Amino acid sequence: MKILVTGGTGYIGSHTAVELIKKGHDVVLLDNLYNSNVNVIKRIEKITGYCPEFYNVDILDKTNLKKVFEGNKFDAIIHFAGYKAVGESVSIPLTYYQNNIAGSLNLYEMMQEFGCNNIVFSSSATVYGDDFEVPFKESYGLGTTTNPYGTTKKFNEIILTDFANANHDISCVLLRYFNPIGAHESGLLGEVPNGIPNNLVPYIAKVASGELEYLRVFGNDYPTVDGTGVRDYIHVVDLARAHVLAIEYAVAHKGAEVINVGSGKGYSVLEVLHAYEKACGKELPYKILERRPGDIATCYADTKKAKELLGFEVEYDIEKMCEDSYRFTVMNPNGID
Ligand code: WQD
Repeated sequence: MKILVTGGTGYIGSHTAVELIKKGHDVVLLDNLYNSNVNVIKRIEKITGYCPEFYNVDILDKTNLKKVFEGNKFDAIIHFAGYKAVGESVSIPLTYYQNNIAGSLNLYEMMQEFGCNNIVFSSSATVYGDDFEVPFKESYGLGTTTNPYGTTKKFNEIILTDFANANHDISCVLLRYFNPIGAHESGLLGEVPNGIPNNLVPYIAKVASGELEYLRVFGNDYPTVDGTGVRDYIHVVDLARAHVLAIEYAVAHKGAEVINVGSGKGYSVLEVLHAYEKACGKELPYKILERRPGDIATCYADTKKAKELLGFEVEYDIEKMCEDSYRFTVMNPNGID
């Protein structure tokens, strides 16, 4: 199939492009390069031997977005493009709503105009909010989001569900990611955060590389195994594989389907830190600080639906996630250049 991957030079987009190419799909990448580097394309080619077509287009640029659809007959779309920093979204909400909602609406309108009926949307476990007991089940529906980033994910799920309900040819799979970490085992693809990382594992990676002095542990008074926050970490390559299964499911079905993509296991901050120490072979310093506003204590996925509908199960454990993350960090001290 010919598949458009928006945000295709990004962290999850690039890993998904590799898995799609490995399954023989014709992959076209679209990205505005706001939060990624065009050299990712050469890395994808080095891994797969195939150089995907690339459009440097912003989903807010309706004119050029339309030209992409005029020049290609897409069978399906995987939509990653969007701003994704929780903290940043609180300080510039209008920019997040404009980009993640209006930009996505441009894409959905192109689907309608050019008869592309299948989409996998990059949603997030953030949409569950803090309203429910773990493990989070898709049937719980949408919770109370605590930041504009999470709200844009919630709005996109509602928009796509309404779009599918109004057009019986439309098929949408809404994948709710938990915490993607790790890197391609070649060391050629991985996460390259802008500046000081907000997320746990990219921050630990910089402590392991010596770039940052110690890990700040945001609270150790949660009702968890060791008092630190518990999350469901999933290897980015496992997540990418789930997208390949999801797009194949979308093409074979109609309507909107919400599916969790996680490991179903929860690991605390300190458990992840110790797994990373094992991966890098050295002790990593940390300090216990106050809780981070907006954080919840525990979050992990119910994974039954992904198994039933997609036949998906994770293959990689937390040690492999940390090993692959550390290898990428060591091999790419200046990011993907
Ligand atoms: C994980 C745990 C922190 C950093 C976010 C988004 C979510 C998704 C994944 C996009 C928490 C603790 C973190 C640090 C720490 N992104 N922590 N020190 O908050 O679960 O989810 O990223 O879809 O939408 O909300 O991930 O990695 O920021 O935090 O102690 O320097 O690590 O308190 O318990 P989070 P995270």
